[in-house]
Amino acid sequence: MPAKTPTELLRCAVETAKNAYAPYSKFHVGSALETADGHVFSGCNVENASYGLTICGERNAIFAMIAAGQKQIVQIAIVADGDVVPYPCGACRQVINEFADPDCPVYVAPAQNIDSYETMTLGELLPKSFKF
Ligand code: THU
Repeated sequence: MPAKTPTELLRCAVETAKNAYAPYSKFHVGSALETADGHVFSGCNVENASYGLTICGERNAIFAMIAAGQKQIVQIAIVADGDVVPYPCGACRQVINEFADPDCPVYVAPAQNIDSYETMTLGELLPKSFKF
């Protein structure tokens, strides 16, 4: 059973989105995930003048998890500025898939209105995924 509520994870993502470095897109993304042992890791997007070097918020949360020695995501939240619902990009779906089961809940919401969050599973976002 996850220890955190969706709202707690979404709030953590909102706080982390405030640290996003997004001077080019102005699109501030925050993500927070819970691991199997109840730890929470968060990340924000970090852009670069060489645009292709940009890293998404979700992947930065996952990389923080790996650096701390954890490997199993049990739930993950993603928020972003404005009215856009920040469904994770294809690359992030594949990276989440490396460390989560298909039934892992993914919560997405505009940062300004997390009460309107949507829940979906990783398997819905990435059916028939590639995984060894
Ligand atoms: N971005 C994320 O952080 N996560 C996604 O899943 C999609 C896009 C970021 C990358 C870039 O800094 C900005 O949003 C606009 O693409």
